[in-house]
Amino acid sequence: MNWNGVIHKYRHYLPFADDVQIVTLNEGNTPLIKADRLAELIAPKANLQLYLKYEGLNPTGSFKDRGMTAAMTQAVHEGANGVICASTGNTAASAAAYAARAGLRCLVLVPEGKIALGKLAASLAYGAEVLSIDGSFDDGLDMVREIVKRQPIVLVNSINPWRIEGQKTGSFEIVDQLDGRSPDWHCLPVGNAGNITAYWMGYKQYDKGRPRILGGQASGSAPIVTGKIVAHPETIATAIRIGNPARWRQALEALDESGGIITAVSDDDILASWKLLAKTEGIFVEPASATGVAALKQQIEMGAIDPNGKTAVCVLTGHGLKDPETAVNQTAPPRTLPATIEALEKHLTGG
Ligand code: F0G
Repeated sequence: MNWNGVIHKYRHYLPFADDVQIVTLNEGNTPLIKADRLAELIAPKANLQLYLKYEGLNPTGSFKDRGMTAAMTQAVHEGANGVICASTGNTAASAAAYAARAGLRCLVLVPEGKIALGKLAASLAYGAEVLSIDGSFDDGLDMVREIVKRQPIVLVNSINPWRIEGQKTGSFEIVDQLDGRSPDWHCLPVGNAGNITAYWMGYKQYDKGRPRILGGQASGSAPIVTGKIVAHPETIATAIRIGNPARWRQALEALDESGGIITAVSDDDILASWKLLAKTEGIFVEPASATGVAALKQQIEMGAIDPNGKTAVCVLTGHGLKDPETAVNQTAPPRTLPATIEALEKHLTGG
C-alpha cells in the first residue's frame, strides 16, 4: 500500500478545509512492536502483552512530525510567511523540516546547552534560524507566545490546536494495529503535555475503547506530579526538561477521564529502561522516550498496575540518534584492538 502521511490517511477525522495543500514528509505508519522479552523482565510470568510504538521512525526522528504536518499545512493555507517555536529540540527539528518543505521561514528558540546534538544538527541542516537562549524551554515558550501577538508569524508549539489534531493520529494507528481495539494501558513521557492531550483526544474520537493513561515525568521536572511549577527543571532526559507545561489542564483531564496515573521517575530509572530497550529489544531511543517504560515498570513493581493478561502500549517518542552524547557517556567505551587476526581470536575466546 502506498503511504502518503497521516493527513491523507485520516483526513476524515481532521477538520481541514477541502482545498488545503498538504505539507507532508509521509510521516506516521510507525511500527507497533511486540516486546515479549521486555514484558517478561518488567512483569515476570504475568502474560503482559507489551507493545512499543516506535515514533522515532518518523521522518525527523520523533513523534512531532504527526502534529507538524498538520500545523504546517494549516499555516500555508492561512498564507503564513513564517513559523516560530520554542523547543527542547525535537519540535525544532520537525518545524525546520516541514517549513523547508513548505518554503517558509522558520525560527526556533532552544535552551542554550540543553539540546541534544542530533536535534541541533538537524535544525541547522534544515536551514532554520536557530536562536539559543539564555533560559529554559519555558522562558522560550513565553517569548514566542508574546511575539506572535506582535508580529505576523505562526506559532507551531503544541498550543497550536493543529499540532494536537495531527498528533492524535497516533491513537488511530495504535487501534488499527491492535485490530480495532485500544490497549488497557497507554504509557508515555510527559513534558509540555501536548502528546498526552492528543492521544486522549484521539482515543475518544476514534471510539474503539479507551485505555487508561500512564504519564511519566522526570523527577527533576515533574510539575504535574507535584502540582507546582518547577522554576529550574533538571533531567538527563532534556526533551522533557519542562517546568510549566502549556497543556497542564488537558493532561489532568486525560488522567482524570481515563482513570490514569501520572508519576515521577528518577533519571537512573529512565536510563535503566533506556538500556533495557536497547539491550533486550534492539530499540535505541533517546532517554526521554524511555520514560513511559520506566513509569510502567515502577507502577507494576509498586502494585499500582496489575499486569496480568493486560495489553500495554508504550510510546517511544524519539530516536536514539537524537542524543548520541548521552549514549556514549552512559556506556563503556569500545575496546581497542591491534589489527591482527590473533588479537581478534584472543578476544573472541575470552583472552
Ligand atoms: N519525548 C520526546 C522525545 C520529546 O521531544 C517530547 C517533547 C516529549 C516526549 C514530551 O511530549 O511535550 O507533548 O508532553 N518535546 C518538546 C520539544 C517539548 O520541544 O521537542 P509533550
